[in-house]
Amino acid sequence: MSRTALPEFLSNAAVPTELQSVILGLADVSVTISQALAKGALAGVLGAAGAENVQGEDQKKLDVIANDLIKDALAALPAVRGLASEEEPDVLACHTDGQYLVTFDPLDGSSNIDINSMVGTIFSVLPHTGSAAVTEQDFLQPGRQQAAAGYILYGPSVMLVLSTGNGVAMFTLDQDQNRYLLTEADINIPVEAKEFSINMSNQRHWVAGMQHYISDLLLGKEGPRGKDFNMRWVAAMVADVHRILCRGGLFTYPWDSRKPEQAGKLRLMYEANPMGFLVEQAGGEVWTPEGKILDIQPEHIHQRVPVILGAASEVKICVDYHQR
Ligand code: F6P
Ligand code: MN
Repeated sequence: MSRTALPEFLSNAAVPTELQSVILGLADVSVTISQALAKGALAGVLGAAGAENVQGEDQKKLDVIANDLIKDALAALPAVRGLASEEEPDVLACHTDGQYLVTFDPLDGSSNIDINSMVGTIFSVLPHTGSAAVTEQDFLQPGRQQAAAGYILYGPSVMLVLSTGNGVAMFTLDQDQNRYLLTEADINIPVEAKEFSINMSNQRHWVAGMQHYISDLLLGKEGPRGKDFNMRWVAAMVADVHRILCRGGLFTYPWDSRKPEQAGKLRLMYEANPMGFLVEQAGGEVWTPEGKILDIQPEHIHQRVPVILGAASEVKICVDYHQR
C-alpha cells in the first residue's frame, strides 16, 4: 500500500513553505531522539542528569539530550525567529527574519524513561508578530493563534500527530526508511466518553467540584451518570492525550492544594496549548474550570494551568460540576 509521506502531505495541504520547514525539522530531530530512546541503557542515556530545570523538576539525562537536539535543529532553520523550551529559563532568539516562534516540551512524561514506558515531544508553532529582537513578550499569544501544534509519541511505534489548523493527522515512523507516513488522515474524538484519566492519588487535594465529578463517575451504573467508566493514567500527558484522540474520554490534571500557589501542574505554552489545539481540531474541548484554555492570554512562558480536555460533552459536564 502506498502511503503519503509527511513532506508530500504538507505540500498537498498548501502549508506555507517556512512552516513546512519547521515541522520537517522537528520530524527529523525526533528520529534521532527515538533512536537514543531505543538504545536506552546500551547507550548510557538513562537516569538522572543531576540538575534541576527551571520548573524545579529533576532532569533526566534524556531531557537534556532531547532539549539540546531540538534546540540545535530548530535554531539552524531560517524560518525560526525564536525558541522557548520547558527545560530552559529564557527564550532564545534565532533568525532575525524568521516568521515563527516555537515552544516545546522536549521529553514529556520523562519519569517514564526509566521504566521503558511511553514519552513524547510536544511542540507549538506561533507566528512572529512582534519586534525585530525577540523577547518573551512575543511568545505571549493565546493558543488560538498557533500556526501548528503537535507531538511525537515514542511508543511501540513512533508517531507524529499534527494539526496546522485543518484537522488532525497521524503519521507513523517507517523505521526502515526514517520517514513519517500518513496512517490516519482526519481524527475525530468519539462523542461518547467511556474513560477518564486523572491521578487519583491526589483526590483529597482537589476542589469540591472535581471531587464530586469523579465520585459520580466512580458510582458507575448505580450513580447519577447511569453508566460505568473505565480509568487510565499513563503519567505522560502526551500518551494520555493520544489515547483520548484515538479512543475518546476525558483527561484532567486539576489544580490541587499540594502547591496552592501553582495554578496547576501542566504548562500552558508547552503542554496545554499545543495539546488543546489538537483536541479542538479533533472536535473536542479544552477548558480550565473557568473557560477555554486556547483563549487564555499568557502572562509568562512557564505559566501553569489546570487542564480538563477530551470529548466535548464530557468536558462540559466536568466544568459544570465546578460552576454549580
Ligand atoms: O509534564 C508533566 C507530566 O509528566 C505530564 O506529562 C503528566 O500528565 C503528569 O506530569 C504526570 O503527573 P503525576 O506525576 O502526578 O502522575
Ligand atoms: Mn511535560
